[in-house]
Amino acid sequence: MTPNQKREAESTQLRLEGVTKRYESGGGSVTALEDVDFAVQRGEVVAVVGPSGSGKSTMLNVLGLLDEPTSGSVELRGRPVAGLSPSERTDARRESIGFVFQDFHLLPTLTAVENVRLPTAFLPGDATGRARDLLERVGLGDRLSHTPDELSGGQKQRVALARALVNEPAVLLADEPTGNLDRGTGTRILDEIRGISDGGVGVVAVTHDDLVTEYTDRTVRLVDGVVGGA
Ligand SMILES: Nc1ncnc2c1ncn2[C@@H]1O[C@H](COP(=O)(O)OP(=O)(O)OP(=O)(O)O)[C@@H](O)[C@H]1O
Ligand SMILES: [Mg+2]
Repeated sequence: MTPNQKREAESTQLRLEGVTKRYESGGGSVTALEDVDFAVQRGEVVAVVGPSGSGKSTMLNVLGLLDEPTSGSVELRGRPVAGLSPSERTDARRESIGFVFQDFHLLPTLTAVENVRLPTAFLPGDATGRARDLLERVGLGDRLSHTPDELSGGQKQRVALARALVNEPAVLLADEPTGNLDRGTGTRILDEIRGISDGGVGVVAVTHDDLVTEYTDRTVRLVDGVVGGA
């Protein structure tokens, strides 16, 4: 390995090598990802774009250790994920990965602060202060005690972003992070995401939004599950 290759390997937060994901269902087999090579480095923001059904959410789920590839390998900070037990996998995900889901996945009975604090439930200490700070950073300092049904779509999205950051992840994976936001709020959130990545976090954002690609270092295009496909 050259010194440059070594530096790059050390700063790689997540890597996919030759990842294929096939879903078997009643109607037959769907290849959602085919032979995908991808890596995200510390401090880098990567956009993943492509038409509906091209495999973007599948790729994010595989990167986020929520789904296993049919073949190929996933490495989290240089460690192959395939060798981990289910509980080690959960721990690795909780410690290293923040995930913003396309449909938020907030718990309806909890307030904004409680939702943001939730991923810290298994860790020592009280993260209420950190949860409040994060909600203030995404512009929701005046909605701390609101439950999801008392929040707009864009506000729920921002709670989901704050929750993804509460454990100070190495990687932030976001499915359409500005999908429900107007341009002004979207810009504010993208400034936040840029700042988070400048602090060393690797960010992968699935998007249809040209605003997002203005903020990213690199864009990866998926077509029919293939990176760079025509
Ligand atoms: N659990 C599943 N079982 C079977 N097929 C699936 C499953 N999940 C996804 N697929 C298929 O895999 C392909 C990729 O889906 P995916 O959700 O990754 O697309 P996407 O790029 O995120 O689309 P969108 O922009 O609409 O969110 C689609 O053809 C979809 O129908
Ligand atoms: Mg999707």
